[in-house]
Amino acid sequence: MAYAVPKPTDYSKEALEKAFTECVAACLTDAAAVHCDAELKAFRDRWMARKSGILTQVNELWLKGAPKEAKGLAGFWVNALKARITEIIDGAHVSGDDSAGAAESVDITLPGVRRPIGAEHPVMRTMHEIVGVFQKLGYSVAEGPVVETDYYNFEALNFPPNHPARDTQDTLFIAGQQSKPQRERLLLRTHTSPVQIRTMEKMRPPIRIVIPGTVHRNDPPDASHSPMFHQIEGLAVDTSITFGDLKGTLDHAMKALFGSSVKTHFRPSFFPFTEPSAELYVTCFICGGSGRRGPDDAPCRPCKQTGWIEVLGCGMVDPNVFEFVKDNGYDPKKVSGFAFGMGVDRLALLKYGVDDLQYFFQGDVRFLQQFG
Ligand code: PHE
Repeated sequence: MAYAVPKPTDYSKEALEKAFTECVAACLTDAAAVHCDAELKAFRDRWMARKSGILTQVNELWLKGAPKEAKGLAGFWVNALKARITEIIDGAHVSGDDSAGAAESVDITLPGVRRPIGAEHPVMRTMHEIVGVFQKLGYSVAEGPVVETDYYNFEALNFPPNHPARDTQDTLFIAGQQSKPQRERLLLRTHTSPVQIRTMEKMRPPIRIVIPGTVHRNDPPDASHSPMFHQIEGLAVDTSITFGDLKGTLDHAMKALFGSSVKTHFRPSFFPFTEPSAELYVTCFICGGSGRRGPDDAPCRPCKQTGWIEVLGCGMVDPNVFEFVKDNGYDPKKVSGFAFGMGVDRLALLKYGVDDLQYFFQGDVRFLQQFG
């Protein structure tokens, strides 16, 4: 039988409580009789409809119709009723549905819902692995801003204003900086090397740090370029650091990363902030250094058949760089150091045999799942 809201004649606590209980019981009975979506909607409307729903009627009859002195108590029961009815309605469902009475009957013997755990992105995984190798050697990790000033990205790294070496960096400049002095103008850092200076300004020698981070260059995206990529910088400064220390450290790191059979090889190069400068090559870990691979001796692509792969730039910190942080204990006559910088994305490409750098940045789950 359909429930009709009674008009209270008695506003005592007992009478109101009884009316409350009857109304809740009626609502529960009504909810249990819902068998399809249409009935569920009708049930909700019957109780909640603004104009003439049961709750509205309760409000009219119990509260508005209450004598002045009973309004407080009536209000209390009307509010309690609204809360309880809303609860029943929110939990109402088409019966026969599996979730029926879910709260009361959880089957704890069923297997739980498994949430897929994400996987570390291959570039991040490579980055952490490289950082880990240096941490074991006693290096700590430093970071710096991606939006950098001309001073840190260039000037303090011994790239004087207008020097042609700046052209090699394909810099993306932040717009609207012309009114500032050149050294304060903002740009997207083209390498992690500015954090060398930032760290030396903060920490006195000796230091050993690695600096992982993103960098930007004005390169259109293709299979081996991306306008955003990742680098890991290294810097060691002490009183008697030599090129031999640089060689030994990097040789050890390459063996730790690519296996103990890789050989390293240094070729002269140029960077304004290191002197002498070098590029480090490792024996190609795809073809083992022979330049050919597979049963039919196919030419090895990653090393362009040379048997060697370039992995980083490095060198001894140029004394001109120390001049910029001299006041913090870096007197170029007293300290020496080495620095290196490597492209993480390229190493991840080689390590995982991926043939297009763009896969790393497109977020395609089919690609990323393979690293899970
Ligand atoms: N910053 C250089 C680059 O991005 C790499 C480098 C770092 C070279 C440290 C020497 C020393 O090309």
